[in-house]
Amino acid sequence: MMDRARTALPPGVLSMHVLPAEHHDRDWDAIVVPRAVKERLLAQALLVLRHGRKLSMLAGLPHGLIVLAGPPGTGKTTMARGLAQVAALALAHEGSTTLLEINPHAFPSDMLGESQRNVTRLLTETIPEIAARRPFTVVLIDEVESFAVRRSSASFEANPVDVHRATDAVLLGIDEIARNLPSVLFVTTTNFMEAVDEAFLSRADLVMRFALPDTATIAKILESALGELAVQWPALQPMAADTERIARLAAMCEGWDGRRIRKLVLAALAQRLEVARDPSGLAWEDFFEAARKKGGVEWAGPAAPTAREMFPGVHRHAHTHQHEDDDGHSHS
Ligand SMILES: Nc1ncnc2c1ncn2[C@@H]1O[C@H](COP(=O)(O)OP(=O)(O)O)[C@@H](O)[C@H]1O
Ligand SMILES: [Mg+2]
Repeated sequence: MMDRARTALPPGVLSMHVLPAEHHDRDWDAIVVPRAVKERLLAQALLVLRHGRKLSMLAGLPHGLIVLAGPPGTGKTTMARGLAQVAALALAHEGSTTLLEINPHAFPSDMLGESQRNVTRLLTETIPEIAARRPFTVVLIDEVESFAVRRSSASFEANPVDVHRATDAVLLGIDEIARNLPSVLFVTTTNFMEAVDEAFLSRADLVMRFALPDTATIAKILESALGELAVQWPALQPMAADTERIARLAAMCEGWDGRRIRKLVLAALAQRLEVARDPSGLAWEDFFEAARKKGGVEWAGPAAPTAREMFPGVHRHAHTHQHEDDDGHSHS
């Protein structure tokens, strides 16, 4: 509901959701990791959201900060969103949860001192105001390396002083929220941990490192992807159940990330025009071909037919040409 009112979102906020929400279970379910990983993540989140106030009395108070780090395409963002929904489900009997997604690229600025002011406004005004609306708040900061820029390497930046001050403002803001708003949880992701400020990382209650999936995990991801396909085209159900061929296919995808593995399904569907027209005709050979080509295309074979040869019977409209000029008006 709320994210439809995009114009009303405060600066730097990408989206806002009230959780638990319908259709938000999917993210958590999509990511194949050992049970212990999801349990640890959920426990960490619940600890802060539910007991943050009591824990903030401890000398080693939690900062309410989780960092999900690892190579691109390993499920960090999806897992972060899923975590917000599942934590909200666990807390639903005590009240609802706001999920706030921050745009980390909204803060750097060419104007001296402006980044620092923007960060300070976000952490001392925007987030506290939003956190006051519901009992629990999860703040997702994707690509946090552009938000909490590592100060020791910022000397190469265009405006190192400004970067320094912005990161200082992040740390101050996080510390203040940890003290005053202990049931706010920050879930952050990064593909590039070396670029995240060390003092920010040391505040994390949990740094979870994601790795590329092993062959057994690849097989599970393929199985899940095929299962989704079979929901849309029930003729493909036997493929989704063929564990032996799935294992063979998984062996061909060694070293791939999760995103690329899920995209293999699309590549398989696009191996032959007939299958693109009717996916029910998908065959194992299409998967093995797609995997052999590593999801890409082979630049070999006979020349392609012309458009008219491919679609002889299709009526073509009389030639008209439309373009947009500099004013944005279209002319024909
Ligand atoms: N371990 C995994 N299990 C299942 N799917 C995965 C896994 N890792 C990544 N994916 C899929 O890859 C895609 C990209 O994931 P994303 O969360 O954007 O990765 P990241 O944030 O690490 O770059 C999503 O469709 C996700 O479902
Ligand atoms: Mg991501």
